[in-house]
Amino acid sequence: MRYLVLALLAALAPASAAYSGDIVQYWVEQSGALVNGTTIGSLQSPVSAWYQAIVQAAVYEAAVKSRGESLAFQQLAVSHAAHNAILWAFHGTRIYNAADAALRAVVPAIGLNVTSNDGKEAIRVGQDAAAKVARARAADNIANFIDYVFAPATPGVYQQTPGSNPLPDVPQARFIAPFAALGDITRFRAPPPPKTNSAEYETAVLYVKEYGSLNSTARTAYDTDTAYFWRESSVTGWNRFAHSVVGIALATEVVESAKFYAQLNYALANAGFASWDTKYAYNSWRPVTAIQRTADRWVASGRDVSDAAWVPLLRPTPSHQDYVSTHSTFGGAAAAVLRAYNGGSDAVRATLTSNVTIDARGPITRQYSNLTVAALENAASRVLGGIHFPFAGSAGVAVGDAVARATLKKFDEHWDEF
Ligand SMILES: *[C@@H]1O[C@H](CO)[C@@H](O)[C@H](O)[C@H]1NC(C)=O
Ligand SMILES: *[C@@H]1O[C@H](CO)[C@@H](O)[C@H](O)[C@H]1NC(C)=O
Ligand SMILES: *[C@@H]1O[C@H](CO)[C@@H](O)[C@H](O)[C@H]1NC(C)=O
Ligand SMILES: *[C@@H]1O[C@H](CO)[C@@H](O)[C@H](O)[C@H]1NC(C)=O
Ligand SMILES: *[C@@H]1O[C@H](CO)[C@@H](O)[C@H](O)[C@H]1NC(C)=O
Repeated sequence: MRYLVLALLAALAPASAAYSGDIVQYWVEQSGALVNGTTIGSLQSPVSAWYQAIVQAAVYEAAVKSRGESLAFQQLAVSHAAHNAILWAFHGTRIYNAADAALRAVVPAIGLNVTSNDGKEAIRVGQDAAAKVARARAADNIANFIDYVFAPATPGVYQQTPGSNPLPDVPQARFIAPFAALGDITRFRAPPPPKTNSAEYETAVLYVKEYGSLNSTARTAYDTDTAYFWRESSVTGWNRFAHSVVGIALATEVVESAKFYAQLNYALANAGFASWDTKYAYNSWRPVTAIQRTADRWVASGRDVSDAAWVPLLRPTPSHQDYVSTHSTFGGAAAAVLRAYNGGSDAVRATLTSNVTIDARGPITRQYSNLTVAALENAASRVLGGIHFPFAGSAGVAVGDAVARATLKKFDEHWDEF
């Protein structure tokens, strides 16, 4: 019967990702898909993580509050928590039909009569959980206006990049209250990037210019795929990486599954805020701005590194500063949480498919056997894509790792201090 319901679900509800039986994974997927650019337009990096952390906070709260109830009760409670948290975060948008469809699609597989007393109680637990998180996050600074003024276009200073927004994205994201009462986010700030007149900087510019350009002849086909493979939203991608590591091991352990995904998404969100703090602290220019600069010979050796027509493989360059790479920060954070889940071991067996929309590349599937390598490849992907300097990647991974480990330390005591 359960299989019949699942088959029907797959046939009747193409809008919903396949349901593995792990209700938490289902809602991680659904909330990712709902903001993937189709329904409400894509989200800036820190906001995409903020949102998923809110959904997973509500899910974990509902799971904890329904501990000891039947599996179906817990699944229904979690589903309403996720649904309401999603709608709270985006209640001014056209997301209702899709969010309702995602809930409607999974109820038959849960199998609890929603009009029975148990069903009604589960729904109330879920709704209360979402409301509690919404109240706690109502004034978390994400809505505040923070202005940005461009600094003079001297070497190293951020300027608008071709095809990007007139102003850099979400300056307020560095002030969002972190999850799990992490405290002052500035203590995770990366050390300054190398000076633009250093030999190290010159090496970095020449590297990105050669390997990151659209028509690079130095970059291998595999490395081009590396840039493509990791290009999607990191929050979506690393949650899918987590599904591959966890599999269906926690499908009947709703509290454990909810705890793991809350840890992962809190760490991602906090990492996003820390990355933004570093970006705005140093306000560093992107490779495309450095390479297209023809005004002067600014590198250490005095040679001409400019190419006014240079175009990166990944385009447009995202609308915010180079240092640090948030993609890399997310990867460092996710790897740290997965390593903790793994009992400290770096070894995993993960198979991941990324459906690449740029340049009509289509789906790429890769396998990973260790987390450190995956996080470093993710960081390298942004350099091979021509949108980050290598030092922005390595520093980003380190920031993400530190933030995630601090978030995990705080989690058990403070997870519900949103
Ligand atoms: C976004 O989600 C929708 C609905 O689940 C799906 O049809 C679409 O393929 C997704 N698009 C991307 C780019 O992931
Ligand atoms: C669901 O519960 C309601 C209220 O107890 C009951 O009237 C209804 O018959 C139940 N539906 C099913 C399919 O069991
Ligand atoms: C890159 O190659 C494509 C196709 O060969 C060409 O149309 C394009 O002008 C090139 N772009 C640059 C920046 O060289
Ligand atoms: C990949 O995305 C494209 C464009 O959204 C879509 O047409 C295609 O069906 C997707 N492929 C897979 C395997 O999901
Ligand atoms: C991770 O992979 C790298 C490269 O494949 C390898 O050198 C390293 O030993 C691996 N570490 C573990 C713990 O598997």
